[in-house]
Amino acid sequence: MSPPEMPEQPNQHIPSPSPSAAAYRRTHQGEGYPATIIHQYIEEHGLPDAAGLLTLASLTKLPESTLRSSLSYYADYRADHSADHSADHSSHTDRSGPCSKICNGTSCFLSNDNPPPASASSRYASCLGHCHQENNYLLDDSIHSTSELSEVSIQCLASDAVTTRRFLNSDNTEPASSSYAGFYRALECKPEDIIERITTAGLRGRGGAAFPTGKKWQACASTAADQRYIIANGNEGDAGSYVDRTLLERDPHSVIEGMLIGAYAMGASKGIIYIRSEYPAAANIIKRAIAEARDAGHLQTGNFSCEISVMQGAGSFVCGEETALINAIEGLRGEVRLRPPYPTEAGLFGKPTAVDNIETLCNVPYIMEHDAEDYQRMGTPTSSGTKTLCFNHGFVRPGIVEVEFGTPLQTAIDAVGGSKTPLAAILLGGPMGCVITPDQWDTPVCYEAMQQRGFDLGHGSIIALPKSADKAALLRHWLSFMAAESCGKCEPCSLGSKRSFQIASGPLTATSQKQLNDLLHLIGQTSLCAFGREIPRALSQYLDIFRDEIFTPKSS
Ligand SMILES: Cc1cc2nc3c(=O)[nH]c(=O)nc-3n(C[C@H](O)[C@H](O)[C@H](O)COP(=O)(O)O)c2cc1C
Ligand code: SF4
Repeated sequence: MSPPEMPEQPNQHIPSPSPSAAAYRRTHQGEGYPATIIHQYIEEHGLPDAAGLLTLASLTKLPESTLRSSLSYYADYRADHSADHSADHSSHTDRSGPCSKICNGTSCFLSNDNPPPASASSRYASCLGHCHQENNYLLDDSIHSTSELSEVSIQCLASDAVTTRRFLNSDNTEPASSSYAGFYRALECKPEDIIERITTAGLRGRGGAAFPTGKKWQACASTAADQRYIIANGNEGDAGSYVDRTLLERDPHSVIEGMLIGAYAMGASKGIIYIRSEYPAAANIIKRAIAEARDAGHLQTGNFSCEISVMQGAGSFVCGEETALINAIEGLRGEVRLRPPYPTEAGLFGKPTAVDNIETLCNVPYIMEHDAEDYQRMGTPTSSGTKTLCFNHGFVRPGIVEVEFGTPLQTAIDAVGGSKTPLAAILLGGPMGCVITPDQWDTPVCYEAMQQRGFDLGHGSIIALPKSADKAALLRHWLSFMAAESCGKCEPCSLGSKRSFQIASGPLTATSQKQLNDLLHLIGQTSLCAFGREIPRALSQYLDIFRDEIFTPKSS
C-alpha cells in the first residue's frame, strides 16, 4: 500500500489576532486548568505574541515570564519543534496548527522499510506508540505507515483475562461498553474498605515503579485536604509500549471506571486524564466515553461526584514522571520536582494527588467485581495479577500478550511466533528498561525475579534487537533520545547525556568506551530522577553485551 502524500501545511490553522482576556472568557465557558487554556489558545490563535502572552497570563494567573519559559519547554509549542528541553528556546516565531509527526522511536528506528516522507512542517516524535508496525507517522491526527498497516494481535495466556478482558477475541475495534458494575459495587462499600481490597489484591503500579496502589491511595486519602485529585497518566512514551494507547482506544470505560473507584476511595472530586499529543485518536475516544459516562449518570450519583477532564500533552517524554506531569497541568515547564513532598501529600496545586498509570486503573474494576483473593492468587506472591507485554514489528505476530506474573519471557515470545530474524537480544521496558540476551529468556515476568537478575520490566515493551542491527547506530539513537528528552532540571543528566552523545558520535575506541562507561556511571549515580538514573543503567548493560561490535580495541 503506498503511503498518502504528506502535504505542506502552512495555512492549516490561520491564527486570528490575540484576543483580550475578557473577550476570550466570553467565548470560552469555565476557567479550565492552565495547560488546557494554553493548549486551546494556541490551537485557535497560534503561539502568543506579546499581547497574547498578556491575555494568557490573565487567563492562567501565571506570570508572563513563567509562561514564556513554559512555552519554550514543549516540543509542540516550539517554532523548530525540537525536543531539546534544556536548550534556550525563548524567542518564538509565530507558528500555527499541529504539524505531522514522524516516529523516531527505537522500534521504527530499527525498521528496514523506507522512512516516511517528511515535509518542512514535520517533526520527529520520540515514539508514536504503534510499534507493532514499521515506519509510523501521524498525518491529520491519523496514524500511517510506509508498510502495510497491520492489525495488532491481542492474546491472553493468563488463567483469567484482566486488562484485555473487554476486547480480547473481539473483531470490533469500537470501544467496549461497560456497566460500571465494579464502580457500583464500590459505592456499596466504605471508602477505606476499597483501599483495603486493592491492598489485599496486591495491585502494583504498572507505570514502571511497581509501587503498591493501595498504599498510594491510602497516603492520598489520609492527607487532610478540602480537595484531592486523581490523575490517569497516559503519557506513555517508552519506545515499544502501546498498551495504554490501546486501552484508551478500545476500553476507555475501564479507565474511567478505575478512576471513579479511586476517586470514591480517596475522596477526590476531580480527575484528569493526561494524554500525550502523539495519541490524538485516544484523546478523542476517551472524551466521547466521558460524555457517555456523564450522560449515564456515573460521574454524579447519590453523594458521589467526580468531574473528569482530558488534557493533551505537548511533546515531552519526562512529563510521564508524575511530578513533571503535575507541573505540566499547572502550565509550568515539565520538569521533575524534588520529593518529598510526594504528590499524595502535596501534588496538583498543592493538594493531595494520586497519579495512576492507565493499565493500573484498568485492573481496578476487575478487582472490585471479583474478590481481592481471586486477583491475588494470580501471579507470584509479590507480583500479583497479570501484566501485558507489547511486542514490536520484529516478531512474527506483533501485538499485546497478557500474562500472569511468573510466566517466563520465553513463553510470551513463543506466543507471538518468535522473531522474524535471528535476535541478538530484546530491549525490555523501553529506554529505562534493560537488554536481555536469549540465554536469559527463561526469566519470569515478575518484578522481584527480574530485579535479582539486574533486569527491569518497566512498562513491559519488548523490542526485537536483530543480530544484524547496527549496534553503534542504536547506541547513538538511544543517547540522542536521552539528550533531547532530559528535562534539564539536574546537570548530571542534562549535560552528561549531551556529552555522552558527543562521545558516541566520535571514534568508538577503547578510550571512548572507558569515557562513556565512567560518564554513564556518574549520571546514573547522581541524577535526580529515574530518567537519569535508569537510562545509563540500561545503556551500560548494552555497552557490556555489545562491546566487541561497538568499539575497536585500539586506543586513539
Ligand atoms: C522519565 C519518566 C517517565 C515516566 N513516564 C510514565 C508514563 O508515561 N506513564 C506512566 O504511567 N508512568 C510513567 N512514569 C512513572 C510515573 O512517575 C509514576 O510512577 C506512575 O505514573 C504512577 O502510576 P502507577 O503507580 O500506576 O504505575 C515515568 C517515570 C519517569 C521517571
Ligand atoms: S534526571 Fe534530572 S534532568 Fe534528567 S529528567 Fe530527571 S530531573 Fe530532569
